Amino acid sequence: MTTLDVPGFLHGSAKMDKLIINGPAKLSGEIHISRAKNAYLPILAGCLLSKERIRLKNIPELRDIKTMLSLLEKLGTQITQEGEWTELYTPTLASFSATYDLVKTMRASIFVLGPLLAREGKAEVSLPGGCAIGTRPIDLHLDNLKKMGAKIDLKGGYVRAEASSLKACTLPLAFPSVGATENLMMASVFTSGTTIIENAAMEPEIEDLGNFLNSMGAKVKGHGSSRIEIEGVEHLSATEYEAIGDRIEAGTYLMAALATGSEITLTGINFKYIDFVIEKLREMGANIETSDNSITVKQSTLSGTKVETAPYPGFPTDLQAQMMALMTTAKDSSIIVENIFENRFMHVPELIRMNALIDLEGRSAFIKPSPGLSAAPVMCTDLRASAALIIAALAAEGETEIQRVYHLDRGYEKLDQKFLKLGASIKRVNSN
Ligand code: UD1
Repeated sequence: MTTLDVPGFLHGSAKMDKLIINGPAKLSGEIHISRAKNAYLPILAGCLLSKERIRLKNIPELRDIKTMLSLLEKLGTQITQEGEWTELYTPTLASFSATYDLVKTMRASIFVLGPLLAREGKAEVSLPGGCAIGTRPIDLHLDNLKKMGAKIDLKGGYVRAEASSLKACTLPLAFPSVGATENLMMASVFTSGTTIIENAAMEPEIEDLGNFLNSMGAKVKGHGSSRIEIEGVEHLSATEYEAIGDRIEAGTYLMAALATGSEITLTGINFKYIDFVIEKLREMGANIETSDNSITVKQSTLSGTKVETAPYPGFPTDLQAQMMALMTTAKDSSIIVENIFENRFMHVPELIRMNALIDLEGRSAFIKPSPGLSAAPVMCTDLRASAALIIAALAAEGETEIQRVYHLDRGYEKLDQKFLKLGASIKRVNSN
């Protein structure tokens, strides 16, 4: 059976689903954090680098993951699922093209560019274009592939790349882009010589990708630091691998618990990956206990604070919206400065509909304590904005109806089931 046929793989992802949440919630209990979507997306693309069988454990059931699997199937990967293991096997490639129909739904499709070029010397990927949270160009991916000797044409909305062999060189990134770092790491695995990525992104998912590549026989060093060295090898072999826990999912549940004055425990997540976030929450007054494989948050009274998003190890932009929802429940004012994406405040009008007091000025948001969040019909605008609305709805008085839940299904595995387990009143309804 292929993964794509597995019943329930895309649990509850119908396009018009909505969520009904009755608040205020009091959460309690323990949930297990899923493996990280942003680790598995590049790892899945990285499977194209080996002609042998790759077995991956506990790939989360998410729409973005399904899109990546569909793309890999089109490129020739045979995918089978057995319990918690997914096997990917690409003895030969059937195509070099990531077409518009798939790329338009998920920017991470660009991750196949590096592996296809490295393995076969050619690739064609539809340009991802803009997206709701900003323009998100891919110049850093393309300029550095050119430095490695790739010939790149942009035509008809596609990136067409060719290179008889990519050459090792030093690639200083103008900005530590997560995606560019990952694409370039994968593009470099077969070069003769050592490629050095300077000013590399340091996100835990990059460290994870390096560990995965090394488990196949790659020689990657320094992943997780700002200087990554990739010594080319002849080929990559079979492996078994399980990605790290999802730090953004963990941060979201922590903030939901704090916004509702609850006590919950998260397992399957190493706190070191969200150390900075935990420190920020503690600074606000949060009572959080950590151990190697779990985090417990207890009922706390929160003060306001200032948060600026930054590349890892700074505060992640992917938790900015959720943090803003939490700040509306603090006893005094807060400020958020969004430094990574230019248009990542689309949750603000929706939070204001729920009685939040937020003013926007350019990249800064000024958040005053809400006199009391209250239920309202609201709409998800992007993945993390949707998570902010869930947090606000759990803290608000009354019944909140959240539309366009398909954004959430891109990145939160079984979110409604997990909140139900924690005791929330949450119901998924098909609004067709
Ligand atoms: C990844 C994450 C995303 C997260 C983001 C920042 C995945 C699948 N997605 O996205 O959830 O929000 O990191 O932590 O891992 N930029 C350029 N030129 C480029 C590439 C990026 O200007 O060639 C800019 C972007 O427009 C953006 C900033 O750099 O303003 C950060 O982008 P980047 O780090 O590349 O994020 P993604 O890899 O797209």
